[in-house]
Amino acid sequence: MISLTGKTALVTGAARGIGRSIAETLVACGARVAIADLDLASAEKTAQEIGEARGFACDVSDPAAVTMLIQTVEDAFGSLDILVNNAGITRDNLMARMKDEDWDAVMAVNLRSAFVATRAVQRGMMKRRFGRIINIASVVGIMGNKGQANYSASKAGLIGLTKSSAKELASRNILVNAIAPGFIQTAMTDKLSDEAKAQLAAQIPLARLGEPKDIANAVAFLASDLASYITGQVLVVDGGMVM
Ligand SMILES: NC(=O)c1ccc[n+]([C@@H]2O[C@H](COP(=O)([O-])OP(=O)(O)OC[C@H]3O[C@@H](n4cnc5c(N)ncnc54)[C@H](O)[C@@H]3O)[C@@H](O)[C@H]2O)c1
Repeated sequence: MISLTGKTALVTGAARGIGRSIAETLVACGARVAIADLDLASAEKTAQEIGEARGFACDVSDPAAVTMLIQTVEDAFGSLDILVNNAGITRDNLMARMKDEDWDAVMAVNLRSAFVATRAVQRGMMKRRFGRIINIASVVGIMGNKGQANYSASKAGLIGLTKSSAKELASRNILVNAIAPGFIQTAMTDKLSDEAKAQLAAQIPLARLGEPKDIANAVAFLASDLASYITGQVLVVDGGMVM
């Protein structure tokens, strides 16, 4: 039912994990997808594995690199209709032990990159009077978390950026939404012990951790015509943990 045929998309941090699943799902819906990640070889490998996709190297913590990425993808595809700001990192620690560098690194990757990409992509989207920007936030941006002052602040910031962008860009039919995943099984959460995972699952009404596909399906919906009257929203995809 969801068709993205004829659309082009860019997903950051898409060589693995949630980003990879988003890229796969958008391709399955008919879109041509640019996969951006730190390492060109892994971005290209993922692109080859999923089909109508191309890999690009970009460290999204570098604003000039992000601006150039948008231009390169627009040149390669002829347009860019859907931007998914997915790349994200953690540098967890209790605040007393958190270094300034841990704060800055998380802000640069998780938050500033989305601002820079949104600024760069809007020109072409405005001209074409169509755009979908989807920011991958987190439930901890809504509820906070011990040991994640930097990460939760970056994700709360992403939610503020989503709402401001939605207001600025709505008149040009550019819709901007955020998705707040709960605990999803990826390399990011693999670090947790089985006991910690079981404790987490116990707080989730659906009684399981989420899978990357759970987030990818929500992205496909927000990118599609089915969501053409939705902007500035935060869609929580967490098995019912936050309600
Ligand atoms: N896994 C979860 O439970 C969970 C929960 C909430 C939100 N999220 C968010 O979902 C997104 C994806 O997370 P994931 O679990 O798939 O993580 P992951 O660590 O499995 O994958 C992240 C990807 O981003 C890439 N990346 C990291 N730094 C980058 C940079 N500077 N430039 C370009 N690419 C970079 C990595 O190489 C990797 O391919 C992140 O924004 C994360 O904060 C994840």
